[in-house]
Amino acid sequence: MTTSTLSRLPIVVAIDGPGASGKSTVARAVARSLGFCYVDTGAMYRTLAWHCIRTGVDLGNPRAIAGVCRRWKTRLHLEEGEPGEVVLLVDGFRPKSEIRTADVGQAASDVAVVPGVRRWMRLVQRDCCRFGDLVMEGRDIATNVFPETNFKFWLDASPDERRRRRQSQGVEDNLGYRDRQDSQRAAAPLMMGLGAVRIDTTGRPVEDIVAGITEVVRNGVSTMGTKVP
Ligand code: DC
Repeated sequence: MTTSTLSRLPIVVAIDGPGASGKSTVARAVARSLGFCYVDTGAMYRTLAWHCIRTGVDLGNPRAIAGVCRRWKTRLHLEEGEPGEVVLLVDGFRPKSEIRTADVGQAASDVAVVPGVRRWMRLVQRDCCRFGDLVMEGRDIATNVFPETNFKFWLDASPDERRRRRQSQGVEDNLGYRDRQDSQRAAAPLMMGLGAVRIDTTGRPVEDIVAGITEVVRNGVSTMGTKVP
C-alpha cells in the first residue's frame, strides 16, 4: 500500500450530486487532469450492500447492518492507474461488476440511511487522504465528509437526461427511489454544500465541465501558495 509523501495537507475536491448526474465521468477526468487520486464513495456503500446481501444480513435491520461495519475485514487500497483510485477491499477482494446491479444500487441507498454506517464511512473516507490529494465523489462529501474543503462542486442534470444516460449505459437504476431516500434521510442527506459551485451537466460536453473544474482548483490552489501538476 502506498501512502502520500506530501509535505502539506492534502487537497480534496468534493463532487456531489444525484445518480447519473455525470459525477463519475467528471470526477475521474478531473483527477486524471490534476494528478490526484480518485475516490468513488458510492462504490463503498455499494460494497457494503453487496457484502450484506451475500452474507444474508437483513437489510431491514439497521443494527445488524451497523454491526457489519464493526466486524467486516476491509482495508483501503490504492489501485495504480491514470488516475490512481482508492478502493475498499473486503477480505482482500475488490468487487467490481458485482456492485453495479440495480438491486445492489437500491440496497446501497438502504444501508446508507443507517447512522452507524455513515459514521464508519466518514472515518474511512477521511482516511483516504493518506494516499495524497483527492477528487472524491458522493452525496455528502462537501456537507459531511470534508466540509472544510475549499473545492466543492454540485453536479445535476434534468430527470430526462439522467434516465437517458442510464439507458444508454444499458444499466437499470431505480433513480426515483434512490433520489427520494438519499435526500430525505436524517443522517447526512443528499444536498448541495454551502458555497458549492452548481453545474448543470445537461447537454454539456464533459470536456468543458472538466476544464472548468480543473481551472477553479488550479487557481484556488495557486492562491494558497501551492502547486499542482
Ligand atoms: O453514487 P452511487 O449511485 O454509486 O451511490 C450508491 C448509493 O450510495 C446512493 O444511492 C446513496 C449512497 N451514497 C451515499 O449515501 N453517500 C455517498 N457519499 C455516496 C453514496
